[in-house]
Amino acid sequence: MKISSFLHFASFGIRTILFRKKDPILGTVIVTDKCNLHCKHCSVNNITAVVHPYRQIRGEMQTLYDMGVRILFFCGGETFLWRDGDKSLRDLVIEAKEMGFLIVNVVTNGTFPIDLPEADLILLSLDGDRDRHNMIRGDTYDTIMENIRNATADNICFYMAINQINKDCVRDVCKKARDTAHVKAVSFNFHTPYPDTRDLALGREEKAECCRVITQMMKEGCPVFNLKGAFPYLIDNRFPTPCHQCLVMENGKLSVCGRCIDVPGLCDECGYFFVAEYTLLFRGNPRIVLEMLFTYLKYI
Ligand SMILES: C[S@@+](CC[C@H](N)C(=O)[O-])C[C@H]1O[C@@H](n2cnc3c(N)ncnc32)[C@H](O)[C@@H]1O
Ligand code: SF4
Ligand code: SF4
Repeated sequence: MKISSFLHFASFGIRTILFRKKDPILGTVIVTDKCNLHCKHCSVNNITAVVHPYRQIRGEMQTLYDMGVRILFFCGGETFLWRDGDKSLRDLVIEAKEMGFLIVNVVTNGTFPIDLPEADLILLSLDGDRDRHNMIRGDTYDTIMENIRNATADNICFYMAINQINKDCVRDVCKKARDTAHVKAVSFNFHTPYPDTRDLALGREEKAECCRVITQMMKEGCPVFNLKGAFPYLIDNRFPTPCHQCLVMENGKLSVCGRCIDVPGLCDECGYFFVAEYTLLFRGNPRIVLEMLFTYLKYI
């Protein structure tokens, strides 16, 4: 991370903590909800299947920027399906950087060729070993591994949503992150139980066991892009929600925290690690502040 970016985030953090401000810093633009997969745990694919036009996406990026957002995520549906005329996802990433976003990340299912060297991180969903991943995501594991081998930069971070199907694969994914070229780290979430996927949610003891394994793997040198200090809060779902510093834009609609904010009661069962990490950070939790500093400087 550039020193100027670090100073911007440090000053934002200090102001937010000291004055209990609710200004945003992290924003996500949903470029489409169209997807080539139908993963078992996912409730947000192919609801409209509209690929939003370039002008609209550009306007949404500008709105977020004007609101103070400096960490931008592109998400979907499948982000790599986005295209408008001769504009591709890569053009969006380059333009986001030119607009002044300090960190630009992309979330993808990894089934398309990965040529995005300008992105700071490509969060690539990997949901277990070959067997469990394919059980959740269809027969995609080998294609994804081939795309990672052929990737044009070392900016990939695995992204695993832990649920009833893959809860025993945390170790495999940690080791895969450590041992795979072009992969920097792995970042985890627990399954967030939308009404149609409640059966995939983990219980308290299962979450605790996953956190124990992640901690062990960190000790063994696996690169995990999460904060250990947030684990106890995630296990018991006792972190503050929603995250006021995070915004999502989908088809002109701006939501605080996640597009899931409208699902009644869901925030009480939220499994997204970033929500725990950011809300605890901005409440000034000293351990989280320190861990965030070290983790972000290490991986971004
Ligand atoms: C909605 S997908 C969009 C990007 C891309 N299609 C992908 O799969 O990475 C973004 C991430 O959300 C995760 N996800 C989907 N439903 C979830 C849920 N109910 N709880 C936690 N994570 C979930 C996916 O596994 C994926 O890592
Ligand atoms: S690839 Fe992503 S958007 Fe598509 S169904 Fe799977 S989790 Fe949902
Ligand atoms: S806190 Fe609520 S809105 Fe935010 S990600 Fe979790 S479930 Fe979604």
